[in-house]
Amino acid sequence: MAGTLYGKIQEKKAIVGVMGLGYVGLPLAVEKARAGYKVIGFDIQQKRVNLINKGINYIGDVNDAELKKFVNEGLITATTNFDKLKDCDVISICVPTPLDKFKQPDLSYIIKTSEDISKRLRKGQLIILESTTYPGTTEEIVLPILKKSGLEIGKDFYLAFSPERVDPGNNRFKTRNTPKVVGGVTEECTRHAKALYENVLEAPVFSVSSPRTAEMTKILENTFRLINIALVQEMTKVAEKMDVNIWEVIEAASTKPFGYMPFYPGPGIGGHCIPIDPFYLAFKAKEFDLHLMLVEVAGQIADDMPYYVIQRLSDILNDYKKPLNGSKILVLGVAYKGNIDDLRESPALKVIEILEKKKAEIYYFDPFVPYFEHNGKKYKSIDLNDDILKEMDGAIITAGHTIGVDYKKIIKNVPFVFDTKNILKDIKDRNKIIVL
Ligand SMILES: NC(=O)c1ccc[n+]([C@@H]2O[C@H](COP(=O)([O-])OP(=O)(O)OC[C@H]3O[C@@H](n4cnc5c(N)ncnc54)[C@H](O)[C@@H]3O)[C@@H](O)[C@H]2O)c1
Repeated sequence: MAGTLYGKIQEKKAIVGVMGLGYVGLPLAVEKARAGYKVIGFDIQQKRVNLINKGINYIGDVNDAELKKFVNEGLITATTNFDKLKDCDVISICVPTPLDKFKQPDLSYIIKTSEDISKRLRKGQLIILESTTYPGTTEEIVLPILKKSGLEIGKDFYLAFSPERVDPGNNRFKTRNTPKVVGGVTEECTRHAKALYENVLEAPVFSVSSPRTAEMTKILENTFRLINIALVQEMTKVAEKMDVNIWEVIEAASTKPFGYMPFYPGPGIGGHCIPIDPFYLAFKAKEFDLHLMLVEVAGQIADDMPYYVIQRLSDILNDYKKPLNGSKILVLGVAYKGNIDDLRESPALKVIEILEKKKAEIYYFDPFVPYFEHNGKKYKSIDLNDDILKEMDGAIITAGHTIGVDYKKIIKNVPFVFDTKNILKDIKDRNKIIVL
């Protein structure tokens, strides 16, 4: 066993490469270093590579001191030089998988990375794709590219898919204690990938019969979330017409100890996973003459939510004898969810876009996002002083930040706060608070 890849994995002598040092790749690199593996991180962004080599963290879920420690100990290094892929025994691929402008899967990052690896592939390497993608990608896209090396799968090199389930901002479940699923192209591929993650994680590693199964597992999880959030968004609209508080309904339904789990409404669905992953599957399903109707309908409901929220805001302003046009609106939170700094697919951006089309005057505050650019326009988080707040015609909460926002001060100074996240639920005086 000694000297074999399996032996190196078990003895923690394997060098682990991580391609893509973002929200998924950097925490994975840290976990692998914590387990005792030497990690080489690869990225095309020189800036990120430089930061890591200085021990400077830029991802919320990574502990600053821990990253610094692993870098100082030489357990983590980063590079843009892909020739160093040859030095790695294991390579995890964590590059982006967005939708293109036609809302179709953009696999260009996976293809480029597979080509970069294939050119340098050598005997005794394990490649694990961890980017979320449709079933079939590992076997139909990555494998043929790696085979161009002339090496034999399952014998010379190993290939598996293992979905990443990290939930940014979740303080209870991190990469380390979240169970992982692995599915290899051959049994040997699965055995190697499972061994690696059993050594890295404190959570169980569950193996499935193929990469396709592992790929579909991840998409089922996120489609489940999309559909349930869309369901509660639809319920929100009908509850409002019936003068029922949807948040109270959800709280009451959550008392059922089986058969129900709560999902919450908001101004839309954001992030790099839920608004995207189900559409990867819907795209692939068409190859089999299947239309994923539930996914499409849920997507429509989610896309409509920011418009619904603006309609509600407009109705509230109307009560104050104000039109949207010319009103000064404070948007509270632009991240896609509470207590994180990620803006990807954030519904708050859509809310801002619609408000601007209606000619409202937008101000925003987000303790996690001091500035951002959207559609070529630059925005800067304002200083929440009494004078500025007093000028506002109203405020809308679009991300449920519980840290860094003085809600009491805001409520004191603005005419009303429209709370689309029910983040003010514990505030007793409801005079100025209108909840979604
Ligand atoms: N963010 C999440 O919460 C989350 C959760 C589970 C799964 N995922 C999936 O993980 C994958 C990565 O997502 P992320 O959020 O970490 O993305 P990210 O944008 O935060 O990070 C991706 C990194 O890859 C780098 N990169 C791009 N092209 C590269 C290339 N050719 N070679 C090397 N590096 C390259 C980028 O510069 C960036 O640093 C996606 O498929 C995503 O769907 C994300």
